[in-house]
Amino acid sequence: MPEIYDTSEPDARAAGIAAAVAALSRGESVGMPTETVYGLAADACNADAVAAVFAAKDRPRFNPLIVHVASPDAARAVAALADPASRLAAAFWPGALTLVAPKRLEAAISDLVTAGLDTVAVRVPSHPVAHELLAAFGRPVAAPSANRSGHVSATTAAHVIADLGDAVSVVLDAGPTPIGVESTVVGFAGDEATLLRAGGIPRADVERVLGRRLLAPVVDPGAPLAPGMLPSHYAPAARLRLAATEVGPGEALLAFGPTLPIGAENAVETVNLSPSGDVGEAATRFFAALRRLDRAAETIAVAPIPDEGLGEAINDRLRRAAAPRG
Ligand code: TXA
Ligand code: MG
Repeated sequence: MPEIYDTSEPDARAAGIAAAVAALSRGESVGMPTETVYGLAADACNADAVAAVFAAKDRPRFNPLIVHVASPDAARAVAALADPASRLAAAFWPGALTLVAPKRLEAAISDLVTAGLDTVAVRVPSHPVAHELLAAFGRPVAAPSANRSGHVSATTAAHVIADLGDAVSVVLDAGPTPIGVESTVVGFAGDEATLLRAGGIPRADVERVLGRRLLAPVVDPGAPLAPGMLPSHYAPAARLRLAATEVGPGEALLAFGPTLPIGAENAVETVNLSPSGDVGEAATRFFAALRRLDRAAETIAVAPIPDEGLGEAINDRLRRAAAPRG
């Protein structure tokens, strides 16, 4: 079992950061809170440490990881950020935006992190505990979401321990993550920006700074998709029935907004992501709600959620969670 530090308590926080830095330096993994979800953090320049992260998650080696750093300058040392990437960095860092840009070889990021690609995904988290850890460690940290590969992401320390407890040395418990869905991932082809994954920064905010639309990714039929883009991902054990307007016998209900589906009173268990219909509030509750309803029923009826703001990220996760498993 990992050492767990409650970062709301100043002494425990200082001790936790020191223990986490020591663990990263030894090539071990740390449960790191970020503003989006918890990450499974390892030294991005230590191939053995990165290999252990892939093994702990049971993650396919072809799916590259995000490199986390403490500042935009540190990000520029890892990735070559030309316009418009640098404009997005200036607008959204620190924050829930990941940029995929050409990798700088001198940064010595392990090839495992980038799955051998010549691009690297990089972000500067805004969470104060993540920032403090990254600044204290002083080197780039690779961190996928701290869940088993393909499973529901971790938004609390308890989720990290349930999924990966034996594989992490230290967990920094900063409570539930404030945004609740992963970062928005943007890639570039010349002047064009591509939305590789909807996430914590709404598409419209990115497009406003770009002054143009984000493109849909071009899928190369010959190349394997990154699992964030795989049809089945973020999946609970239960079956999901999307855009449900009524609740069937024995079903659990993932509700949204003030109007409940027909038969909602018969649901074996209900979580309303946001009774007032706020997609941001819904995002903060989303993954924990999936985990809870997964324990209650074999089928989860999911009420329609609008595609605006963080709703796009939630609907993206729901479609993948509902997709046939493969
Ligand atoms: O919010 C987040 O992004 C969280 C926290 C911990 O920072 N991290 C996270 O990591 O969600 P992960 O590994 O679950 O998702 C990383 C995503 C995947 O969809 C991966 O395919 C994509 O980033 N990615 C990483 N490097 C890439 C690259 N060079 N080119 C294209 N996609 C890349
Ligand atoms: Mg993930």
